[in-house]
Amino acid sequence: MRPEDAKRDHYRKMAKRAGYVSRAAFKIIELNKKYGIFKTGQRVLDLGASPGGWSQVVSKLVGPEGEVYAVDKRPLKIELENVKFLQIDILNDRIDLSNFDVVISDLAPNVSGVWEHDQYVQIQLAKRALEIAESTLRRGGNFVCKIFDGEGVNDIVNRARKEFGFVKLTKPKASRKESSELYLVCKNYLRGSS
Ligand SMILES: C[S@@+](CC[C@H](N)C(=O)[O-])C[C@H]1O[C@@H](n2cnc3c(N)ncnc32)[C@H](O)[C@@H]1O
Repeated sequence: MRPEDAKRDHYRKMAKRAGYVSRAAFKIIELNKKYGIFKTGQRVLDLGASPGGWSQVVSKLVGPEGEVYAVDKRPLKIELENVKFLQIDILNDRIDLSNFDVVISDLAPNVSGVWEHDQYVQIQLAKRALEIAESTLRRGGNFVCKIFDGEGVNDIVNRARKEFGFVKLTKPKASRKESSELYLVCKNYLRGSS
């Protein structure tokens, strides 16, 4: 087995054992350990949430006094008391919510195999996620966003640098080495209401 296949298999088994519906859960766990993104009692918006691994992790981190709004065009595979699900297409539908402490986005297109096309669509999703964060975050809030490396990344990073006190582009260990997926971690939103 190739080392990358072994790694994927390892995370899949770990996810099954821990009861997570996706391997992606380990990416947000790792990012939170390194960058301290979540606190108990927070209100979190999870964009591209299905099947629900990130929502499962965040639901525990914010605890019963916190709440998670999970958004996706496909249904979730989990039901949790402090997670509310909205089935919408973020490129076409409005999100009439606000006052979030954290916005996270793992939005990704169905991969077509044509790299330029997939990367272009993913950048559109990441841009929309940043716009949603700008209009729904509280002052001091945090934003985490998946980005496929390539054209358009610098524009998003530069825009984020004007709006957050801390911005870092990073690749978690749980992310496949050969994939071009990166995560933008932004902390301390400088606008928004307190
Ligand atoms: C990599 S998956 C997310 C995995 C999730 N974070 C987890 O832990 O289970 C990406 C998700 O983005 C969603 N997505 C892609 N485009 C979307 C759109 N325009 N509106 C809403 N959801 C979208 C897909 O349906 C898919 O479920």
